[in-house]
Amino acid sequence: MAAEPRPAAGDGTVQTERSVLVGVCGGIAIYKSVELVRSLVTEGFTPTVLLTEAAERFVTPLTFAAVSKSAVLQDETAWQASGGWFQHIEAARGAQVLCVAPATANTLAKMAAGMADNLLTAVYLAFRGRVVIAPSMNWAMYEHPATQDNLRRLAERGADVLDTGSGDLACGEEGSGRMADPQTILSAIRRAFNQSAAGPLTGRKVIVTAGGTREPVDAVRYVGNRSSGRMGRALADEAHLRGADVVLVTTVDRGETAYRTVSVESAADMAAAVHAETATADVLVMAAAVADFTPGTRVEGKIERGETETLGLQLVRTQDILLASARPGLLRVGFAAEAGPRLDRARAKYEQKGVDLLVFNDILASGVGIGSLENEITIISPEGDVHIPRTSKAVCARAVMTEVERMLASH
Ligand SMILES: Cc1cc2nc3c(=O)[nH]c(=O)nc-3n(C[C@H](O)[C@H](O)[C@H](O)COP(=O)(O)O)c2cc1C
Repeated sequence: MAAEPRPAAGDGTVQTERSVLVGVCGGIAIYKSVELVRSLVTEGFTPTVLLTEAAERFVTPLTFAAVSKSAVLQDETAWQASGGWFQHIEAARGAQVLCVAPATANTLAKMAAGMADNLLTAVYLAFRGRVVIAPSMNWAMYEHPATQDNLRRLAERGADVLDTGSGDLACGEEGSGRMADPQTILSAIRRAFNQSAAGPLTGRKVIVTAGGTREPVDAVRYVGNRSSGRMGRALADEAHLRGADVVLVTTVDRGETAYRTVSVESAADMAAAVHAETATADVLVMAAAVADFTPGTRVEGKIERGETETLGLQLVRTQDILLASARPGLLRVGFAAEAGPRLDRARAKYEQKGVDLLVFNDILASGVGIGSLENEITIISPEGDVHIPRTSKAVCARAVMTEVERMLASH
């Protein structure tokens, strides 16, 4: 009999509030901040945007309100009788991380000097959480000793001052001072969260696999699948955020990570890496789309088109990594991608593989699962099912890690 669904632990709502204040100054890189705020929302953070007056000359508060899905804090509204600056300082108290991006030369100087003549600088002084700074300016402004002194002082006080890139600048010149890209800033914010509190998975080693394996046919061709590696990456990020010692075993490079990654290609490579890493692990999350079959022989060199009219591929079954990894003390989480709403088949796999949790998703449902940005999952556990309706993979990852935490606590 099917287990009764129980309320989702991480279903769309913010479990552990992850509030970020995003201070935005009047610099040309402001368009990247819009992207940053959007990514923060997608990743399940709660950003509150705080604009300087100069910033409002570049982008309207409306744009930031729309992407952040909440009210924007501005100097103008701060001076109104209802609320006022104190209300905004309350906002500073509620957030764990303050990120200033773009940080202009002007605001950096004020922050370094401890001035508080606008909302952003007042909030910076009132703020006691971790600070991430993404400077952005013309190369000469950036390299000026005054700016370099200010950046050094801010870093000495504990702020994570991100490097700027070099290249074409918006002012038409070339050189240093280009703001870090949104994904790099996002990684720094994740890191800041991780440093701000010992997470519930502190002291736990979590291995996550991601991406579709590539099974070699010859030196250039492979048999593969459409997995993007996004679900695995979201799970690894979430485990890291909760304090775990994470290793991501992956077939795809999805950009910089704050934890160790092991790159693999084939199912056999992945099996070897997983077995080596899980020897000392507490949790294995197999989110990768591992090939079930692989060519029995690999042709050395390249099969030439002119040499054959047809090409037969003999495929042999690969090792079931999840099953082969079973050992006492290792909590195993499997994924079952089924063609259609076949929760029954997923349940059968749950029993057959003896896993602790099994995450089911229907690969025929449109816009979710393999290769998509979103997912809709059902987490099968001994306590019953948790259904997470269509949402970002980051929010799905939260729900899965909440279940992992719950199971670790009850072991
Ligand atoms: C078109 C334009 C682009 C600018 N870009 C930058 C920039 O990238 N970095 C910077 O430090 N200042 C830049 N400035 C100057 C700042 O907007 C100016 O110093 C302003 O006072 C900054 O205020 P804020 O720090 O309160 O946002 C720019 C000014 C203009 C008009």
